[in-house]
Amino acid sequence: MDRKEAENRISQLRALVDRHNYLYFVENIPEIGDGQYDKLMSELRDLENSFPDLITNQSPSQRLGAEPLIGFSEISHEIPMLSLSNAFSDDDLTAWYSRLYAMLDDTNFEMVCELKYDGLAVSLRYENGLFIQGSTRGNGMTGEDITLNLKTINSIPLHLQGEFPQTLEVRGEVYFPKSEFDKFNAHRDQEGLQTYANPRNTAAGSLRQLDSNVTAGRPLDIFIYSLAQIDSDYSLYTQFETLNYLKSLGFKINPNNILAKSTQEVIRYHTNWIQNRASLDYDCDGVVVKVNRLDYQQHLGTIGREPRWATAYKFPAVQAQTRLLDIRLNVGRTGSINPYAILEPVEVGGVIIKQATLHNADYIESKDLKIGDWVIVERAGEVIPQVVKSHKDKRTGSETSFSMPSLCPSCGAKLVNREGEAATFCTNSTCPAQLERLVEHFVSKSAMDIEGMGGKVGVSLIQNGLIKDVADIYFVQREKLEQLDRMGKKSVDNLLRAIKESKKQPPERLLVSLGIPHVGSEISSLLLNKFASIDNLVACNQETLLNIPSIGPKISESITEYFSKFDNLNVLEKLRSAGVNMVSETVTRSEGIPLLSDLRFVVTGRLENYSRTEIQDLIKRYGGKVSSSVSKSTDYLLAGQDGGSKLVEANKLGVQIISESDFDILTVGK
Ligand code: IVH
Repeated sequence: MDRKEAENRISQLRALVDRHNYLYFVENIPEIGDGQYDKLMSELRDLENSFPDLITNQSPSQRLGAEPLIGFSEISHEIPMLSLSNAFSDDDLTAWYSRLYAMLDDTNFEMVCELKYDGLAVSLRYENGLFIQGSTRGNGMTGEDITLNLKTINSIPLHLQGEFPQTLEVRGEVYFPKSEFDKFNAHRDQEGLQTYANPRNTAAGSLRQLDSNVTAGRPLDIFIYSLAQIDSDYSLYTQFETLNYLKSLGFKINPNNILAKSTQEVIRYHTNWIQNRASLDYDCDGVVVKVNRLDYQQHLGTIGREPRWATAYKFPAVQAQTRLLDIRLNVGRTGSINPYAILEPVEVGGVIIKQATLHNADYIESKDLKIGDWVIVERAGEVIPQVVKSHKDKRTGSETSFSMPSLCPSCGAKLVNREGEAATFCTNSTCPAQLERLVEHFVSKSAMDIEGMGGKVGVSLIQNGLIKDVADIYFVQREKLEQLDRMGKKSVDNLLRAIKESKKQPPERLLVSLGIPHVGSEISSLLLNKFASIDNLVACNQETLLNIPSIGPKISESITEYFSKFDNLNVLEKLRSAGVNMVSETVTRSEGIPLLSDLRFVVTGRLENYSRTEIQDLIKRYGGKVSSSVSKSTDYLLAGQDGGSKLVEANKLGVQIISESDFDILTVGK
């Protein structure tokens, strides 16, 4: 077959495979058998093997088989991925509705009722009808590029059908179907492997695999529930119409969405699904109610991270009865003493619960909980299980009361209750348990990301007196590490490298890692965007902080209190002297504008002077963006040795290809 013929046949085969894939995975009405499907696929693969330059990223053959990644790159969401406000009762729902009709001056607006799928939110981008990028929600502003993993989900179209726009971004929920999850676990059990606790967490874990071939072994699925971006000349007027339009493009839309004209209809939908949700092949924890008209949505807008025009009417929590076997304490990273319940294992909504939080001594007292009691435990969505009630009528007299000790269970220091706070705190700022939790947090993936330092290594460094605060991590010596149990030369090398690498983390990561109460990754990014350095943040007062949208008194107090303490400032100084980065480079460059501002890069092949993560970080630090696949919007393909199919794609699309030294010239001008 000559090249031209091959090209024609390949495009025919791709259309056929895509179509049958759609009929099977989206519509659930297959027209051909597995054998016939496999035959089409293997003909496509054979032809592509003979003409490798005809392979494109969106060929159905490319759903599988990508090389493992070294790490995920970050994606900033042009349109933030929002959260939802909650309604827990018919009254809450009616109150939400009344607030809106007052604002809209329309007492009769329509709503769309959708199920609230309990999975992971993802964003999918298409250009010219091709799937080019998929990302996690992350903190709503920035997520991770999980394109390769999402490509393994057969119900995500790689090509759009029908009349598609030039650019499109949709949002949806990835889930692990319940029936598939049971099969998957049964299989693991047979193989003697550990089984997974629930579909949601397993779906989350599957999407965060660096090797997409592992994800491909997990039969994940998706429902698309909203449109984030589309060419400006597309006129869509309602959410319902939008969902139908997205369906026509080949997306999987849930068939149970309805239009409701009144809150009574919403309540009926909600009640119906409380009764029938067990029959669905996916977990749902409520109903999402959205104002149907898009101009109304626009008018209502968002407050904080929650749109006014939608709310999640949650299903009641699932409860079960069990015995409270013991009450134990752990020390949190801020020194709070946290009581938790040891329970006789019990199944609550498909998950086995063995422990539950008890918050603080007041909580235990107000619920009148005694060790040995029969109690009701509750699990609502993702929330940590709670003990909500004890059965006093079932007491035999052998139950024992709990009282908070006066000394820290870890270090023996005095415990105190601060004014206005229910929690009890350890007074020793060098309490080892507290430090263990803090180190665990400091080195974790979303903080400084020091691989090999979590768990036992961190604990043993603390117990051996090598670390007295988190900054000491940067001063541990090779010889000391080598003396620790089970630390060979290679592990020590790797750990020291990871510690060194982490010094380059952007300052928002450093801020997260300090463990300041109420300062997570979202708030931290917001603060560093504004202040550009840790020092600027340390210097600012509560009033300045309160002027920032999304920062309330709780957060601003927590920050100023943290930076007013000598010990904390001392840790910061030590971190600085170790060379830990405290400045956002993109904002502080002398030109004022980041050098690679908004330029989109794709990296391929082996580089000589940079690891994959180094180069990705560098691009981002200079204000550029990194994507995993080449598309028309790519500005540069940075190609090292053995670039492969991305080079072909870049050539085809006319994307500029640059070498490592070109990149150096571009950035430092050497
Ligand atoms: S709409 C305002 N629709 O719920 C836009 N979200 O708490 C928010 N979710 O992160 C998204 N089912 O992961 C929407 N039918 C649905 C949903 C849904 C589940 C999740 C989504 C989001 C979270 C918000």
